Amino acid sequence: MTVLRAPASSGAAREAAQESVRNAALRAEAIAGLTAREKSLAPKWLYDERGSALFERITGLPEYYPTRTETAILRRHAAQLGSLVPPGGALVELGSGASVKTRILLDAGAHFGAYVPIDISPEFLTRTAEDLRRRYRDLPIIPLTGDFSRPLNLPGAALDLPKIGFFPGSTIGNLDPAAARALLERVRGWPGTEGFILGVDLVKDPEELVAAYDDAQGVTAAFISNILVRLNREAGANFDPDAFAYEALWNADLARIDMRLVSTRKQVVYLSGTRIDFAADEPIHVSASRKYTGDSLAALATASGWRVAQSFADEGNRFLVACLVPGRPSSGTES
Ligand code: AVJ
Repeated sequence: MTVLRAPASSGAAREAAQESVRNAALRAEAIAGLTAREKSLAPKWLYDERGSALFERITGLPEYYPTRTETAILRRHAAQLGSLVPPGGALVELGSGASVKTRILLDAGAHFGAYVPIDISPEFLTRTAEDLRRRYRDLPIIPLTGDFSRPLNLPGAALDLPKIGFFPGSTIGNLDPAAARALLERVRGWPGTEGFILGVDLVKDPEELVAAYDDAQGVTAAFISNILVRLNREAGANFDPDAFAYEALWNADLARIDMRLVSTRKQVVYLSGTRIDFAADEPIHVSASRKYTGDSLAALATASGWRVAQSFADEGNRFLVACLVPGRPSSGTES
């Protein structure tokens, strides 16, 4: 791999270098995923400029209940949720994206000492931070570019503050159980962590679930297919996106929705010179969205050093916002 060093003085050069590092990671991960026996791509790559815009559209679709349901829960319990952050403490958000839900908490957080948005997309993060600085003039906004599915170093200015994690949107549903547990353990291990506000989507009628991930207007299909368009542009691939059909399936055993792109025919695709063979009807697994129950969430919390102190659901029991507090240290020796 090429190591790129750009002079810190040149913003454009630094951005170009960052982008090229990201393209190398995209290419390497895509090749690994597409040459495996069961082909897959990671959902974090869905969120380029167009993908982020398509996801914004999804959040407003009639079938996609999670965003508006969670937003209503946050609004209803904003004061109580905000009070979890101790005076002068930091709210640290994982995968901040567009900041609509954040603002609900920040509006209830005159006593916050800092807001730390973490996102994989530096462009998005910069825009969000600028916007929030204008709205909350007295609140230090300390953005951090990073992939929260891996260990990351919190910015020094936020390190010593007592902090509450905030992970809304049921984004944790993208992670398999081991990865979800690892993430919760990492947040638990941050210095000064006093709590974690976590949004999870709940298990419900499969028809309602599938409709939420396969909408009538085809926005979700466009969102998922966009990953192929991105690979063509940024990873030297030659996918014909029209030769892949989108499908959403409910896997009851694993309590998750699987989002897949299915090859409509036998075909060969090249990605930066690597040959990828597709059989007719062969799927690429692009995203999974795990759904929880009160019990499965409590088990996940306990396994990762947390305890569910409180949780708030909507009246239809579609979505849950849980407040986790440190549990007994998970020594791994409990039976
Ligand atoms: C952003 C991961 C929470 O799984 O509901 C929505 C992504 N993908 N429709 C979800 C998504 C297709 C979404 N998360």
